[in-house]
Amino acid sequence: MKIIPGPASIELAERIAKNLSLPIVKYSYKYFYDNETYLRVDETVKNETILIIQSTHFPQEKHWLELFILCSTLKDLGASEVISIIPYLSYARADKRKIEGEALSHQILIELLGKSGCDCVITMNVHNPEAFYSSSKGIEKININLFHHIGAELKSEYKNFIVVGPDKGAEEDVRTLAKLLETDYLLFEKERDALTNEVKMKTPDYNFENKDVLLVDDIITSGGTAKLASKLILEKKPRTLQFLCIHALSKDEVYLELKNMGVEKIISTNTIPNKQIKQLDIAPYIAKYIKEKFL
Ligand code: R5P
Repeated sequence: MKIIPGPASIELAERIAKNLSLPIVKYSYKYFYDNETYLRVDETVKNETILIIQSTHFPQEKHWLELFILCSTLKDLGASEVISIIPYLSYARADKRKIEGEALSHQILIELLGKSGCDCVITMNVHNPEAFYSSSKGIEKININLFHHIGAELKSEYKNFIVVGPDKGAEEDVRTLAKLLETDYLLFEKERDALTNEVKMKTPDYNFENKDVLLVDDIITSGGTAKLASKLILEKKPRTLQFLCIHALSKDEVYLELKNMGVEKIISTNTIPNKQIKQLDIAPYIAKYIKEKFL
């Protein structure tokens, strides 16, 4: 087995390769003047299993296209198996039609990934695991819940915190994390207008005064959910409030706004690289999974 660090995830891929003591395949890529991608695999991959690590955050279309080109080229050059690790799988929220006529982009991309030669896709905390697993039959699919792994790492620091999920959809993650931290959790109720994207939230009757609170979500994008939940918690005078998520997709000003509101610390994993916030390294967990399943 050899590793290819996709252009979107070079640092993470190098860490995974190091954790597994696996060689990295030499390849070259550049962007032409008109921004088209040039790619060349510089060594033989014949009869090899290749692990590509490529997240698909902004610019999403470019990262997806790089992944398709890599998978297809590797298969064309004789690789026996291509496994794509996509730490953050974008478009996963376009998994169902809320309005008639909407594109099911999530299903389309998984289908295209299989067609491009990828045999197996491994992702982390995909938005809707059910939609992910029931998408294209032509490719093996694996979703890893990173809350199981980071929970153990955070235990000593957060065991006296109350864990809060901003909506019912966060229940499984929040319950998992609270159990690993040996603490309690509670959930807010959230409603989002499909057209305006406006978020409304209801809080349960709970006394936050002098509590240390860990607000937890799978993903932060516009920051609307995290900001509203933080505002509601901070109004109830907790001792401290921190925010934890798996995929940090927001622009830097969103993290700054949260900090200015009084959120003491913002933590995510490094599924999407970001130097502005504290990031937990997922390379050891991915490496462990690969070792157990494939090596
Ligand atoms: C929603 O179902 C997700 O779990 C997140 O709460 C949501 O996607 C976060 O998005 P935003 O930061 O735009 O509110």
